Amino acid sequence: MKRRTSGGHEKLLALAREAMTRAYAPYSRFSVGAAVEAQDGSVFTGANVENASYGLTMCAERVALFTAVAAGKRRLTRIAVVSSNGGATYPCGACRQALHEFSHELEVIVDDGKGGAEITTLSGLLPKAFGPADLA
Ligand code: THU
Repeated sequence: MKRRTSGGHEKLLALAREAMTRAYAPYSRFSVGAAVEAQDGSVFTGANVENASYGLTMCAERVALFTAVAAGKRRLTRIAVVSSNGGATYPCGACRQALHEFSHELEVIVDDGKGGAEITTLSGLLPKAFGPADLA
């Protein structure tokens, strides 16, 4: 889903929270929502989508990322992540690598489950990453 925002972290987290309501997580019962913001201010959201063949499950972050890229947005500035577990949920390793393909300086905003947020960068979460530059 595409949304526009010029707001701060709260707005992006709210969009991730809204997306989380659409998670399909009948197996883990762990819902996740993500919202990716592009440089032009457009926002793309995603939720985790599980499958009876468990390994086919897709994380919320990659749903949001791939939706943005498929819409032509490759210059990404922020991602907000919210989960149903009442605490901070950071993007998994696979999602960090997928995000790195498009922005190593991405700001990562994680809902702390207490009404606030933990803010870090993708480079902090995935130091010395392998990426497009290595193949240049
Ligand atoms: N999940 C995400 O969507 N994002 C994360 O960062 C961690 C894990 C999903 C995958 C699966 O549907 C459920 O959470 C439990 O692993």
